[in-house]
Amino acid sequence: MPPSHYGFEDKRVSRLAHLFQLLAAPMASSSAKGKGPENGTAAATYELPWVEKYRPQTLDDVVGNTETIERLKVIARDGNCPHFIISGLPGIGKTTSIHCLAHQLLGDGYKEGVLELNASDERGIDVVRNKIKAFAQKKVTLPPGRHKIVILDEADSMTPGAQQALRRTMEIYSNSTRFCLACNMSNKIIEPIQSRCAILRYSKLRDSEILKRLLEICEMEKVQYNDDGLTALVFTSEGDMRQAINNLQSTYSGFGFVSGESVFKVCDQPHPVIVQAIIRSCIKGDIDSAMEKLNELWQQGYSAADIVVTMFRVTKTFDELPEYTKLEYIKEIGFTHMRILEGVGTIIQLAGLLARLCKLNIKPALFQV
Ligand SMILES: Nc1ncnc2c1ncn2[C@@H]1O[C@H](COP(=O)(O)OP(=O)(O)OP(=O)(O)O)[C@@H](O)[C@H]1O
Ligand SMILES: [Mg+2]
Repeated sequence: MPPSHYGFEDKRVSRLAHLFQLLAAPMASSSAKGKGPENGTAAATYELPWVEKYRPQTLDDVVGNTETIERLKVIARDGNCPHFIISGLPGIGKTTSIHCLAHQLLGDGYKEGVLELNASDERGIDVVRNKIKAFAQKKVTLPPGRHKIVILDEADSMTPGAQQALRRTMEIYSNSTRFCLACNMSNKIIEPIQSRCAILRYSKLRDSEILKRLLEICEMEKVQYNDDGLTALVFTSEGDMRQAINNLQSTYSGFGFVSGESVFKVCDQPHPVIVQAIIRSCIKGDIDSAMEKLNELWQQGYSAADIVVTMFRVTKTFDELPEYTKLEYIKEIGFTHMRILEGVGTIIQLAGLLARLCKLNIKPALFQV
């Protein structure tokens, strides 16, 4: 064949290859983001929720609970991972820390060396007998000094029977397999398992820790906000990072700007400023104005439980109250909360509470007849 012909063939092949690449690119990006439309706009439409997008990848990125996380970092470095249980409230980084630890310990061996079971998986006694045991017996190549890891997330939902079945397995295979459990309530884990594990307790995240993370995310997502908005996010999240990030995203996508007003609309909680006004009226002993504001909240549709919980949280951090009055107020709010939980969530209960709070600040002489 003449050289020119080769030249022609080559060009056509390279053009074809280029065409294939162009065609393949949007397909690859849409398959990476899950099921997406064929027109290649998947990246814009199928964005990850921010809680997942900003899920920490290493233990260094996990905020809060510094002492406990330092211990995990030492384990990640030295490799001698004990069996352990992380317990704590929702959304404070338990699952995240276990995953980060497992990734840092096993590196590329993660896929082979980790068995993760959470509450969405069948975890009855049979799974412990078959699946977990089979995994513990399996031979895999891992970096030297590292163990296979069984992650039992939401372990408090495992039946006591399944937990019993785990006892001996944890011991027999402990030379090659370590168990990491996460749960909200450690008392739901049977005593014998607790005694085989190191128990790490995560506490609620501090306001400053949540605020720092929210600021980072606002920066990365170019979110417009004001200070009031961020304070409201921190207030409504109650130390739960997942809630804080989710509320940030909902507010931003709903209103385009994070202000206090919009956050409370999204979170659907009584506005603390109104609740503060109620408490202020009670301090003055002015039941009429306190009742007026309470009625306002009631008409907006908030339940007695919503209102009383916000009252507690506002009172707890209300600087205008002297210490003694604050303690008395919290006591009364606590009793009312108890009655509401027992089923008496009427406005009369709340009115009774306000009356008692007012009474605390009225001079005893005024009650004499
Ligand atoms: N300490 C933290 N540092 C940074 N991000 C966090 C932290 N805790 C939670 N988050 C964010 O919240 C999301 C949920 O966290 P995670 O799944 O670890 O919660 P959890 O403690 O396991 O809660 P649950 O008890 O409901 O399972 C993460 O994807 C992350 O974005
Ligand atoms: Mg979890």
